[in-house]
Parts: sequence; structure tokens; C-alpha cells
Amino acid sequence: QTTIPPFLKILRYKTAQILTFNAMSESRSIHIDYQIVSQLADLSQDDQSLLNQAIEASKLAYAPYSDFHVGCALRLANGEIINGSNQENAAYTVCQCAERGALGYASAKYPDVAVLEVAVYAQGTAVTKPVATPCGVCRQALLEYADRFDQTMRIIAQCNDSSIYLFNSIRDLLPLGFSK
Ligand code: THU
Repeated sequence: QTTIPPFLKILRYKTAQILTFNAMSESRSIHIDYQIVSQLADLSQDDQSLLNQAIEASKLAYAPYSDFHVGCALRLANGEIINGSNQENAAYTVCQCAERGALGYASAKYPDVAVLEVAVYAQGTAVTKPVATPCGVCRQALLEYADRFDQTMRIIAQCNDSSIYLFNSIRDLLPLGFSK
């Protein structure tokens, strides 16, 4: 059995790296634009009313384990607003986020109607950061819902009384998101 000296191993690895780099490397960057608005009154009437519905929905959260109460309101293309809130369980992995609760409700009630806008609001003792945007799993679920209807799907997010974050599209929150 022959042993390769460590310096040769490094040389071989570095050479492979350089060759690969030269052959097929291309640098790209991803940039997103979003807005931060300091208070509810500064939003458009439609955004205010959607966020207010998310605030109301957060009061219906069942979050005794995290004390992170999340409400979600979806504006559908038919003008309906659908709400959801997070629903927790003593078996923590069973916990469901507000966004996916609302999506399930929307698709059960109006399976053929696009979701145009999503407002998410979080409150509770565990909410300490200035913003809570949809988690990664919810981003994936929202993205596919947007794609199914060829929509951009705006996102509005607020925690407690902090500033409100506005994203033009769910795609901005999940660049290079998985799809088949
Ligand atoms: N949660 C949501 O409802 N939406 C999110 O996007 C992030 C997290 C919930 C899940 C859990 O019940 C609690 O917040 C703490 O993670």
C-alpha cells in the first residue's frame, strides 16, 4: 500500500479546485428590495386592514409552549380574507405555523383562488426581535402557492409594535427556492 505525502494531497486538491474553478465558475449575486414602515397608520388602507386581521388572528393562537403568538391573514384574488394562527402541541414537532394553517384553510375553502398578499403578526413574551418573517418551511409552502397561480405574493410582517416590513414577493424571501 502506497501512502501519498500530505503536501501532494494538498497539491492535488488545490489543482482540482483551480481546474474546476476555471472550467465552470460564474459569480452571481442576489439582491432584494424591501420597505420598512414605522407604524400601521403609514400603510395603505388595504394593507392596514390585512395586518389588522393578522393581529386579530394572533389572539387566537394556541401557543402555550413558545408564548410566540402568530396570526396570519391572506388576501385572496376573490377579495376574501382568510386567517390562521399557530397551533402548538406538547409533542413540539406537531406545532403548526400560522401561515400554513391559513394556507390550508384557503385551499380547503377556495382551492382555485390565488393568494395575493400575506400579513403576519407576532406577539408574546418570546417575541424579542424587531421582525418575524415566515419561517423557511412556510416560505417554501407560500412560494409553491404563489407559483401555482403565477403570482408574486406580497408579504407584510410585524412583531408587537415594531416597524412593519414589506416584501414585494415571497420569491424575495426564498431565492432559488426548491421546485420541481
Ligand atoms: N411560527 C409561526 O406561526 N410562523 C412562523 O413563520 C414562525 C414560527 C410559530 C411556530 C411556533 O408555534 C411558534 O411560532 C414559535 O416558533
